[in-house]
Amino acid sequence: MSAPTAMRVVSGIQPTGGLHLGNLLGAILRWVRMQDEAECLFFLADLHAITVDVEPAALRSNVREMAAALIASGIDPARSVLFAQSAVPAHAELAWLLQCTARVGWLNRMTQFKEKSGKSREGASVGLYTYPVLQAADILLYRATHVPVGEDQKQHIELARDIAVKFNTDFDVELFVPPEPFIGGGAAARVMSLRDGSAKMSKSDPSDMSRINLTDSDDVIAQKIRKARTDADPLPEDPALLEPRAEAKNLVGIYAAVTGETPQDVLGRFAGQGFGALKPALADALIGLLAPLRTRLEELRGDPAELDRILAADSGRAAELGAPLIVDAYRAVGLSR
Ligand code: TYM
Repeated sequence: MSAPTAMRVVSGIQPTGGLHLGNLLGAILRWVRMQDEAECLFFLADLHAITVDVEPAALRSNVREMAAALIASGIDPARSVLFAQSAVPAHAELAWLLQCTARVGWLNRMTQFKEKSGKSREGASVGLYTYPVLQAADILLYRATHVPVGEDQKQHIELARDIAVKFNTDFDVELFVPPEPFIGGGAAARVMSLRDGSAKMSKSDPSDMSRINLTDSDDVIAQKIRKARTDADPLPEDPALLEPRAEAKNLVGIYAAVTGETPQDVLGRFAGQGFGALKPALADALIGLLAPLRTRLEELRGDPAELDRILAADSGRAAELGAPLIVDAYRAVGLSR
């Protein structure tokens, strides 16, 4: 296989819970823009979702719901390949081959395993531990050149690079393309919780007030922003002065990411004023972004058969795109398939 010359974008999202603003700004809205520039494959990482407690009935409906949320956000199945990871067996097959390339010491350094397993490391699933190797397989199977993700995934993409280079070296092949993490700037890289500026916005946070969900009504969005934690100081002119003010920095960053401005532009309008001025404007900007996506999501939910049709058709396409590589990977290690 020769090295691809074109840009190929691959990224995934776990179908657990709904989409939140962190996912949207950190990944999904950037995926949407990349559809104009490159061949794109986007998938629901349902094999990753079973590394923690599984509720089979919920998982099935979450896959469909997340597919609808991605399409509502602008992922266009006519231009991008949109599928469920579990529907393309080559992901799991390649993950096994790569587990024999990745080193235990490399996985021991993964901070997300430490965070997710917490105090019960001995009781965590083996899948949660080897999760980043499956993620490497997702990326390397399609010879992705760019992987648009939020900052929390950077270490996993770097691991995929290390695995690609070691496999190529060990077996003296040019099979895998070491991928680049493609991380947004400003708040888009890491949207923080509305309740705690030191924690990232996350679907696993027990407080729903910590995040803005794609499904939140306009009133709920306004209320969450009104109640977002802040400090009592007025906003400065210089963005550098926001550094020690995590919550203030987060709100200014979200505002800038939503309106496509820089934090400097936002501060240019609000410097000297308090959050009583910024918060209503931010709530309006968020409602302007999210309300049309929410309406579209509601429409898409009305036609589950169409969602299933899209996912089935695109998984076939993804399987075709991954087929040559999985054959070559088996051959490289001395097996045939
Ligand atoms: P997941 O499902 O946790 O998140 C999906 C995407 O949203 C980004 N993100 C954020 N970005 C900015 N601020 C936040 N607060 C925030 N929260 C989430 C994530 O960085 C991610 O880009 N392991 C991955 C899914 C995955 C994957 C892959 C990604 C599986 N295989 C291959 C890329 C390539 C995950 O759990 O993302």
